[in-house]
Amino acid sequence: MPSQREPRIFYRKEVDSTQDEAFRLLDSGEVPPFFVVSDIQTSGRGRYHRPWVSGRGGAWLTLLLEQDRKKFHNAWVYGFAASLSVVELLSEFKIRASISWPNDVLVNGSKISGVLAEARLNGNEKAIEETESGHPLAVGVGLNVTNDVSRVAAPYPVTNMLDNLKSSIDFESVRKRLIEILFIRAFNGEQDLTIKEYRTKLQTLGRVVTVKSGNWMISGKAVDLDSDGALIIRTDKGLEKVFTGEIVRKRTQG
Ligand code: BTN
Repeated sequence: MPSQREPRIFYRKEVDSTQDEAFRLLDSGEVPPFFVVSDIQTSGRGRYHRPWVSGRGGAWLTLLLEQDRKKFHNAWVYGFAASLSVVELLSEFKIRASISWPNDVLVNGSKISGVLAEARLNGNEKAIEETESGHPLAVGVGLNVTNDVSRVAAPYPVTNMLDNLKSSIDFESVRKRLIEILFIRAFNGEQDLTIKEYRTKLQTLGRVVTVKSGNWMISGKAVDLDSDGALIIRTDKGLEKVFTGEIVRKRTQG
C-alpha cells in the first residue's frame, strides 16, 4: 500500500490534461492517491468544459484520490480544500487572496487560480457536485505562477504570482509547496474545519450575486454556507441552497 505521507507524483513535460492523465493512470491500475503534474497542458480544461490556457510557468496538477467519507462527507468539499491550499500557499509569499464561490482564487479582484473537481463514473468524468459518493475523484488545480496571462481570453481579469511580487520567484519550489499543502489538507483535513476556514476566505458572503447553473439562474444575497458546503442565498422567495454553479461576474468586477 502506498503511504499517505508520501504521495506518488507522476511528472509530465507535456500532457493533454492532468485530469485525463490521472484517470488514464487509474484505468491502467495505479492506486490512489497520486498526483499528476505537467509543465504544459495542450487541452487543459476549466469548469463547464471551458479551455484552460496552460503554458509553461503555471502549476497544473491533479490529485487523484478516493473520498474518505468519514472526513469529507460531501465530495465537493475537497474542492474547498484545494482552493484553501492555494490561498495558504499565496499567503506564504505575502500575497493576500480570497475565494469567489465555489473555488476561484482571486488577488485584488483578478483570478489567479481555479479548481476543477471531477468524479469518475462509468468511465466518464462528471462534475463532482453531480455525483454521489464513492467514486474516484480528480481534484485539479491550476495556479498562474510565472506564465504569461496577458493573452488569456476570459471575461474577467486574470493575474499570476509574479505580477503580485516585487522579486522573482522560483517556480519549482512554488509547485512543490502547493503539492505538499494540498496533500496535507486533503488527507489531514476534515469537512467541518475546512468549511469553517473556507468561510473566512470567501468573499462571496454578504454580496448580492447571480449564480448560473446549467439552464437556471438564481439571484439574491449570499448569506451563509451550510454544513454540507451549500451556498445559502436569500432571494425574493426566501432562502435557497445552491450546491453547484458559478457566479456571473461583470467584466469590471473581481
Ligand atoms: C476553472 O476555474 O474553471 C478550473 C480550472 C482548473 C484547471 C486545472 S489545471 C490542472 C487540471 N487539469 C485540467 O485540465 N484542469 C485542471
